Amino acid sequence: MADLVEIKDDGGIRLVRMNRPDKKNALTAAMYDAMAAAIAGTRTDPDIRCVMIAGLPGAFCAGNDLDEFRKAADDGEGLGAPVLRFLHALAWCERPLVAAVDGFAVGVGTTMLLHCDYVVASRMARFSTPFVGLGLVPEAASTLLAPQLMGPRRAFAMLVMGEPFDSEQALSVGLINVVADSAEVETQALAAARKIGSLPPEAVLASRRMIRGEPQELAERIDLEADFFRERLQSPEAQAAFAAFFARKK
Ligand code: COA
Repeated sequence: MADLVEIKDDGGIRLVRMNRPDKKNALTAAMYDAMAAAIAGTRTDPDIRCVMIAGLPGAFCAGNDLDEFRKAADDGEGLGAPVLRFLHALAWCERPLVAAVDGFAVGVGTTMLLHCDYVVASRMARFSTPFVGLGLVPEAASTLLAPQLMGPRRAFAMLVMGEPFDSEQALSVGLINVVADSAEVETQALAAARKIGSLPPEAVLASRRMIRGEPQELAERIDLEADFFRERLQSPEAQAAFAAFFARKK
């Protein structure tokens, strides 16, 4: 079976590719762990200058695997250690993060982009965060980062009302840098990653640190959201939403 997350280092760029095509790149605990290790590992590998996150054509990421959420709820758990490792790896990452997005970016598929420094998305990209509709709350420090980025009203429409964005709307709120044709998304993202990688690395790290601010604040918000998330996962609202998702084709 192919790796559900492919990690490839080439020319100072670490490519992290989500690769679960049959489930539209819904993320499992093992996938979060692999991605967390790949991102956190850059702290001790000076040869890696930039991390590029990619998905598959038409499916960047369908969010957390809802079956795993359902099981976590049954077991009285919350987001779970692998998810939190991944979110903290994003928050504490020092290397610039570039993303290439085609197709669906749902839930954490969108909120992880708030941690990225440069995002190329295709005209076919669709961003949505249906947490509240699922009886849940937003995660990944998105309740801090989204209002900072787009203002509290647009953040409310996205995070609470679950209003999806197309790529032009995502560009206008600053969630992405560039809109490209689907066939060009990865080439353009890789070109950006290479450009970043060619710059003086210490100057890049120092500048990024000042632009992105204090990781501790992000880490605390991730943990606060996780507390609410645990509570919400157990709720009848969430249980009903998961059951409805898996019953939809029957
Ligand atoms: N968790 C578990 N399985 C998922 C999933 C998820 N988040 N997203 C998609 N899948 C599975 C589907 O159950 C389906 O599996 P099956 O073929 O065994 O029935 C397969 O992936 C393909 O999904 P499908 O819904 O048929 O594809 P689509 O192109 O019609 O729609 C999405 C794609 C992403 C819009 C839709 O699958 C979806 O809304 N997924 C849930 C997204 C979500 O709510 N994520 C959690 C956010 S917190």
